Amino acid sequence: MSAALRFSSRMNIKFNNVTKKYGIIVAVSQITFEVKSGEFVFIAGPSGAGKTTLLRLILSQTKPTSGTLEIGNVDLGQSKKHQLEKIRKKIGVIYQDYQLIPDKTIEENIALALDIVSYPKKNLHHQIDEVIRKVNLTTRRFLYPSQLSGGELQRASLARALAIDPAIILADEPTGNLDLENTWRLIKLLKDINQTTKTTIIMTTHNSDIIDSLDKRVIFLRDGMVEKEINHQQKQ
Ligand SMILES: Nc1ncnc2c1ncn2[C@@H]1O[C@H](COP(=O)(O)OP(=O)(O)O)[C@@H](O)[C@H]1O
Ligand SMILES: [Mg+2]
Repeated sequence: MSAALRFSSRMNIKFNNVTKKYGIIVAVSQITFEVKSGEFVFIAGPSGAGKTTLLRLILSQTKPTSGTLEIGNVDLGQSKKHQLEKIRKKIGVIYQDYQLIPDKTIEENIALALDIVSYPKKNLHHQIDEVIRKVNLTTRRFLYPSQLSGGELQRASLARALAIDPAIILADEPTGNLDLENTWRLIKLLKDINQTTKTTIIMTTHNSDIIDSLDKRVIFLRDGMVEKEINHQQKQ
């Protein structure tokens, strides 16, 4: 088993009574749930429910006001910068607005992500080949983001997230700007990645068609709180 896999098998995510306030605004309140390595989980809920805040907490972009958040048994609130960086390097993220760098080609965008995680230089080209092939963008490799369609941009951004061999992929409303065809294409890719590589996937969405189509665990948020949870897989 590779070192990457051994590490990923320990990367359960555990929210324990987490509250995050911005001043007097309560973004999320008393959240408790655990996502096990290899799970595919939707975080659903209307705009303002606290979905993005949960992802930002996982990324250590913001800290809980109270409660604890552990990833792989590391308490993010108590850990040193180098520990947080190590965890951060195992998390790939995709966003509704793609967040690709406009003056870099698709290949250069991916190379930059690999550079940030100090990916071994000798494997760089092979890895870029692999992820670009996986998302079916071989013919777009040397193009700039402005030359791609929305669906292609999101697949490029997924390739960038995959390049670092993530243990966890966070997808924040990744289909928000996509048409139906590209929405389903992306969902299929995420589902295949989860199945074949056992990468944990946490995807936020307010699209109930997507949630209904997949039979995955769904955590519904409302006003920063867990309103209900559906776990199709447990029922089987
Ligand atoms: N940086 C911030 N400063 C102040 N309030 C924020 C900040 N980020 C989020 N919020 C508030 O927290 C709540 C949850 O936001 P968010 O997590 O972005 O929800 P969602 O992603 O479900 O739309 C909202 O009321 C939002 O206005
Ligand atoms: Mg959001």
